Amino acid sequence: MAHRKRFPGADPLNLWGNARGGSDVSVSVSAVSRTYQDRGAVHALARVSLRAARGELVAVVGPSGCGKTTLLELICGLQAPDVGTVRSAPAALMPQRDLLLPWLSALENAALALRIARRPRAQARACAAALFAELGLAGFEDARPHELSGGMRQRVAFLRTLLSEKPVLCLDEPFGALDAITRAEMQSWLARALAREPRTVVLVTHDVEEAVLLADRLVVLCARPGRVIAEIEVALPRPRARTDARVVAMREQALIALGLGDRA
Ligand SMILES: Nc1ncnc2c1ncn2[C@@H]1O[C@H](COP(=O)(O)OP(=O)(O)O)[C@@H](O)[C@H]1O
Ligand SMILES: [Mg+2]
Repeated sequence: MAHRKRFPGADPLNLWGNARGGSDVSVSVSAVSRTYQDRGAVHALARVSLRAARGELVAVVGPSGCGKTTLLELICGLQAPDVGTVRSAPAALMPQRDLLLPWLSALENAALALRIARRPRAQARACAAALFAELGLAGFEDARPHELSGGMRQRVAFLRTLLSEKPVLCLDEPFGALDAITRAEMQSWLARALAREPRTVVLVTHDVEEAVLLADRLVVLCARPGRVIAEIEVALPRPRARTDARVVAMREQALIALGLGDRA
């Protein structure tokens, strides 16, 4: 994408992960700082480093405003770091707000990335339709976004990101607007989908339990400016149960890092 060439910190062709065949690193953020200058200086990120190996799910947790969305936009090449470097294999972003196109049906929205990749309309729709039932969206293929609940819109946006076929998925609080039951269903669906078809995922969430249930590793950021204050390996077998004592203990460990633990 030509616009990426303006960004000195981003890899212009975004080929790094694939270009070095055999490289096991899909995402590498090194000592990145980012300050917004729009209305006085807002230091969003301070010397943040993060790596995601190919096929790894890294969860980024931290309080609101600590630069999580900024970090994902840097990885996707949508903005450039002021300091430091960002390298990533081609990455698709699921933005925090669903940003569905109101004039397209749910199915057309889900198939959008495939259409942009010049896949024939019928083929793109068939790919999307195949996953509609699995996400509890069957029967809503022709609905417009305003006819869907918030949770359904989020699921369509998630499907659109998944169908982008990019090796890296950057998910910005993908289940944030879902009710607790749907969120739990979506978490297990994501875990199953990734077991079937591994991708590198950077999952931003403020739900520490979700992070422990899904991730291989947690990167904990402190309040703005976001800095990495803890990294927690989650070497637990899958599927994971939220009631598992080890899951509960790791959740507590992350909350303590955030200064929110019962014993903090
Ligand atoms: N485009 C922008 N212009 C100015 N400030 C911004 C912009 N985007 C984000 N910020 C500020 O940067 C900080 C980090 O934002 P963000 O990355 O959205 O954090 P998070 O996703 O963790 O809530 C916040 O204080 C926010 O107000
Ligand atoms: Mg955000």
